[in-house]
Amino acid sequence: MAFLIDGKKISAEIKDELKEQVAALAAKGTTLTLAVIQVGDDKASSVYVGNKKKACEYIGVQSLAYELPASTTEEELLSLVKELNERKDVNGILVQLPLPKHIDEDKVLLAIDPDKDVDGFHPVSVGRLWIGQKGYESCTPAGIIQLLKRSGIEIAGKECVIVGRSNIVGKPMAALLLRENGTVTVCHSRTKDLASVTKRADILVVAIGKPKFITAEYVKEGAVVIDVGIHRMEDNKLCGDVDFADVEPHVSAITPVPGGVGPMTIAMLMCNVVRSAEQ
Ligand code: GUN
Repeated sequence: MAFLIDGKKISAEIKDELKEQVAALAAKGTTLTLAVIQVGDDKASSVYVGNKKKACEYIGVQSLAYELPASTTEEELLSLVKELNERKDVNGILVQLPLPKHIDEDKVLLAIDPDKDVDGFHPVSVGRLWIGQKGYESCTPAGIIQLLKRSGIEIAGKECVIVGRSNIVGKPMAALLLRENGTVTVCHSRTKDLASVTKRADILVVAIGKPKFITAEYVKEGAVVIDVGIHRMEDNKLCGDVDFADVEPHVSAITPVPGGVGPMTIAMLMCNVVRSAEQ
């Protein structure tokens, strides 16, 4: 039986540690505030934003919620971001994605002060990450590093294969695994003979957005498998990008869906908010 990497437990531990750090900061007179902006009423976004607000409340960070109508113009949003950049009492700014089509996401992300970019999406944050400077790390890949470390899984010297090259997961994951001295390969839709590459992995991170895509023939015996995907199936059950039942008997450790990577994203966002006190 594979070891189940428990994201629910690890994220709860991290949030409890952060709660103590926030209390210690408060005792010294430093309070933390996260501004969360949502434009429109995308259902999934509303759930994520609600969970982010709850996490803030739990660890003792104040959240400022901006729920703007879908008709908000790019200028109006940019002007709000500018105002929040200038506010001394706001430590972090998060603009929930996706934004309505008439708003240029890149332009909005670029407008956020990199010192308040707790999502780690600003090009300056991305650049800092790649050249090893201090800055905010993208939350989902940072959460995966914590899952590995807190489960006692060594990264240094390991063959790490990432399936998916998105800006939010695949690319920053590569930077973080490299920083931990892994040997990193990034695969994507144009990779030839994907299984021959994924089978090399000691640590396989899957973020391709296709339900149950990775089956046993893609994994090496004894590998560690991290599943970033989450999908609602016709029977209403959740599944990941990995066919868990097929893969689990062959691996040494695996993240479940739900309860694996998912809960880590918000824990790491909170970690970035607490780190913003240092900026
Ligand atoms: N939409 C889906 N995931 C995320 C995230 O981590 N941050 C933001 N801002 N938007 C998202």
